[in-house]
Amino acid sequence: MTTDKPELQSATDLPTIIQGGMGIGASHWKLANATSRNGALGIVSAVALDNILVRRLQLGDEDGDVRRALAHFPWPEMAKRVEDKYFIEGGKEKDAPFAVLPLVKADMSRTSAELLIIATFVEVFLAKEGHNGAVGINFLYKIPLYIIPSILGAMLANVDAVIVGAGVPLSIPGTLDGLAEWKPVDRSLSVDEAAASVVYKQYFDPSIFCYEDERPKLKRPFFLAIISSEIIAKTMMRRANGEVDGFIVEKYVAGGHNAPPRKERGAAPDAKPYYGEKDDPDITRIQNVGKPFWIAGGYASPEKLLEAQEEGAQGIQVGTMFAMCDDSGFLPEIRQELLDKYDAGTLVVTTDFDASPTGYPFKAIVLDTIDTISSKEVYEKRSRICDLGYLREFYPISDTEIGYRCSSEPVKNFVRKGGEESRSFGKQCLCNGLLATVGLGQVQKTGVEPPMITAGDDFSFLDRIKRDETGHYTAKDAINYLLGR
Ligand SMILES: Cc1cc2nc3c(=O)[nH]c(=O)nc-3n(C[C@H](O)[C@H](O)[C@H](O)COP(=O)(O)O)c2cc1C
Repeated sequence: MTTDKPELQSATDLPTIIQGGMGIGASHWKLANATSRNGALGIVSAVALDNILVRRLQLGDEDGDVRRALAHFPWPEMAKRVEDKYFIEGGKEKDAPFAVLPLVKADMSRTSAELLIIATFVEVFLAKEGHNGAVGINFLYKIPLYIIPSILGAMLANVDAVIVGAGVPLSIPGTLDGLAEWKPVDRSLSVDEAAASVVYKQYFDPSIFCYEDERPKLKRPFFLAIISSEIIAKTMMRRANGEVDGFIVEKYVAGGHNAPPRKERGAAPDAKPYYGEKDDPDITRIQNVGKPFWIAGGYASPEKLLEAQEEGAQGIQVGTMFAMCDDSGFLPEIRQELLDKYDAGTLVVTTDFDASPTGYPFKAIVLDTIDTISSKEVYEKRSRICDLGYLREFYPISDTEIGYRCSSEPVKNFVRKGGEESRSFGKQCLCNGLLATVGLGQVQKTGVEPPMITAGDDFSFLDRIKRDETGHYTAKDAINYLLGR
């Protein structure tokens, strides 16, 4: 049972602890629900929710959670279309592949948009179910096409905060303002090699999905931008198309993607970049911007929380500690091996500057008993395929049309579309790899996709948090530890 609770008035009313958004599916609704009901801000990841929804339905939706959420979707016919199309009673055959969805384009089909709206509604609805804690959703700005319809789905489920990283999310506040009033919104797309004078845009009109009398009143969620420097904080304040309510200041030890190093690089022409002191954000300058902020990246301890607060932060955002808890979306066997490796002193987290098609550095871990795509042999054995396409980049076909390519797709396709061959070297399919890590790996002709593990550099919380006799802990234990309860 939930009790009525007054709506939050400002971002300063948001909790001290934010459970970081972790895609794909690592911070799913179950984790966000568990963290929100224990006083943190639970964040669901928005990445790949359309495929996640379809795959859960095709696995038979064992506990009925997805279908329960679908039954609450405000436009029942739309929800029914999705359920009828994808739900398989008892689940698909183990060796059968999941449905392959058409790749989304800037000029999105109505079916793709509906699926995104519904899938995001389901995730946020379930994260909010049964308690009155706040829930947010995390987007990567580098995955532009999916964001606007997904935000509408999240707002239909009354999401409290929208958090966006991996880029400079200048257009998000305006999107939130527009959708809250059911107005058409758009977003410019960054198209490689396009003439500066040509602007490519994605347009979205929320009003086409229902009749006027079927439009619920929508709350404008708080908008927090993930930044790694004071320069981006200032840029957001000056150039964003609406109100920025706060910031997550993420340091480079954080899990997932990181901002590229700003200044450090060895002397040799092919030397890899590396992080140094200059990549540490200037917290005082960020505080001077005058918005509430949370610090992320190696802050998973009560002492670091205090330190952040002494520096003027409202609190901290924590990822790895929640990814490793029993409520996370990581497959249990993957979590177990990570715990075992940490306890044995053999866990190594690498910053891979080549793996991600986004071009951003990406943290990766290789396991001993489970094949992951980050291991050289597995990578070399896998046939390249781009059947999910979230990280595709855009290239110009004409002044009004764009093409799509991913540097981890088959090299000859990438090159045929004008991609530079050298940019495909070492590129890994994060889309398929990360879905496999949460138990939703596609069955390809060559076998099930291998997982890909990401986490932050700092696992030292495992030495201090109270774990049970099997070495495990829950999201509630993590929050109690951070708050010194
Ligand atoms: C498994 C994993 C996946 C992540 N995925 C995302 C993501 O999709 N979007 C994002 O903004 N941050 C992502 N992060 C970063 C977290 O939200 C958080 O900021 C970071 O992990 C904090 O550092 P910590 O892991 O040292 O606590 C991810 C982190 C992990 C561990």
